[in-house]
Amino acid sequence: MPQTIAVLDFGSQLTQVIARRIRECQVYSRIYHYSTPAAKLREDGVAGIILSGGPQSVYARKAPHPDPAIFQLGVPILGICYGVQLMGHFLDGVVEHSKAREYGHGMLTIRKAGRLFFGLPQKLRVWNSHGDKLTKLPPGFRAIGTTENSPYAAIEDAKRNFYGIQFHPEVFHTERGVDMIRNFLVGVCGVKQEWTTRDFITQAVGNIRAQVGRGRVLLGLSGGVDSSVAAALLHKAIGKQLTCVFVDNGLLRKGERETVEKLYGDHFHIDLRVVDASKLFLRRLKGVSEPEQKRKIIGRTFVEVFEKSLKSIGHAEFLGQGTLYPDVIESVSIAGNPASLIKTHHNVGGLPARMKLKLIEPLRELFKDEVRRVGEALGLPKEVVWRQPFPGPGLGVRVMGDITAAKLEILRNADAVLQDEMMRSGYYYKVWQSFCVFLPVRTVGVFGDERTYDYVIAIRVVESTDAMTADWAKLPHELLQKVSSRITNEVRGVGRVVFDISSKPPATIEWE
Ligand code: XMP
Repeated sequence: MPQTIAVLDFGSQLTQVIARRIRECQVYSRIYHYSTPAAKLREDGVAGIILSGGPQSVYARKAPHPDPAIFQLGVPILGICYGVQLMGHFLDGVVEHSKAREYGHGMLTIRKAGRLFFGLPQKLRVWNSHGDKLTKLPPGFRAIGTTENSPYAAIEDAKRNFYGIQFHPEVFHTERGVDMIRNFLVGVCGVKQEWTTRDFITQAVGNIRAQVGRGRVLLGLSGGVDSSVAAALLHKAIGKQLTCVFVDNGLLRKGERETVEKLYGDHFHIDLRVVDASKLFLRRLKGVSEPEQKRKIIGRTFVEVFEKSLKSIGHAEFLGQGTLYPDVIESVSIAGNPASLIKTHHNVGGLPARMKLKLIEPLRELFKDEVRRVGEALGLPKEVVWRQPFPGPGLGVRVMGDITAAKLEILRNADAVLQDEMMRSGYYYKVWQSFCVFLPVRTVGVFGDERTYDYVIAIRVVESTDAMTADWAKLPHELLQKVSSRITNEVRGVGRVVFDISSKPPATIEWE
């Protein structure tokens, strides 16, 4: 077993982010339920404990509390946010309940660097989000950092190796937060930075084998990064016990199906079943132009086709999915807040429970960039690992209004030109997404001596880090010119090309 840091989870959405930061420091961590007995942590030989944040007040009736014996293990402990209040509460300090949350940026002044703040500048911007507040230090502690609002923003008991920070070092908005975490791991807990992507793969392979045994796993392959990496990982673990299903919904980009067949069938020798359901999808979509309606039809039909294909494949116990941690968060927040449902993302939330398959999600704790590293280590090509996101409903939401085979064909050909030029110029990997949109508007033009009356293609290229906000990409004019002239020359039915210069918000990335 590698040296392990235990992260006790008190219900914060940031717990996984803490685990991720620990992995960034190349250290292995495990997330434990907050009530895990100290004896279990001792048995597992944990080298240090981090108490996560949490939404509760320590005084709430059902507030999650740890086993008090963790403070007697003789193991270093770092309390974050709610974790500090717990230290205050259990180690005889005073925590005051406050109704107003302190939320947002603060300025930390480091009063004593010690081991936690070793090598850091004296002033740092930090991110706060807490209600309760420590108002009297527990015996043995002293303040090592203050903010405008808190004389106890950071505290230490160097003898027992207990540290507490009121703010969140794991979030991006806290300057040098990862350094604080690394200082705790290396400087305080004394662990070595040896945990790598390869170790993750070895461990995941072991876990998958243990979970699956001699069973069979089915996986819906979309060709996107997540399901591709999940497929490669599952295949490494269980080989022929994995069957992948790829549904051709008729809304794919040019050559997409062939690429998937080549990569998974020919290269990885995965048992791949391609189901051509394009006619069914197009029939159901006929005459439908409302975007959400289209998504619902596509989502429902996908589930139906997938389910039917499973029946013909035969018995299986498990359904593999390339769910990532941000998907888990997103589905939770959507479930809790209907206002956040701007567009229904049908591929998140998985297939209905009535399929009676046990889920196997080997990437569930990882973030996108980590999944890409895993994909690279598994030998997936760059085009797959660094592929731009592509919506589940595919070109179905990129043909404005009702969808026909002819419109799809035009869009596919125009999009292939754009992708080709993006690849050649190297811009494909520099932007977040680049794609064409088919506009069912006909405009007048001239081609040779003839008057034309053809459709419009819009080019949408955006820069973004998380798709929540986006800005249109300032591509060189020469590149745009090339794309435009190639599309109007090579794609029949297109007489005009326009470039979308809207940012998100107010516009979304997709047009529908
Ligand atoms: P918007 O258009 O909402 O897109 O700015 C944000 C990101 O989500 C993708 N997207 C979808 N992905 N199913 C998906 O799987 C969908 O229905 C869907 N709608 C948008 C979009 O491509 C962008 O990356």
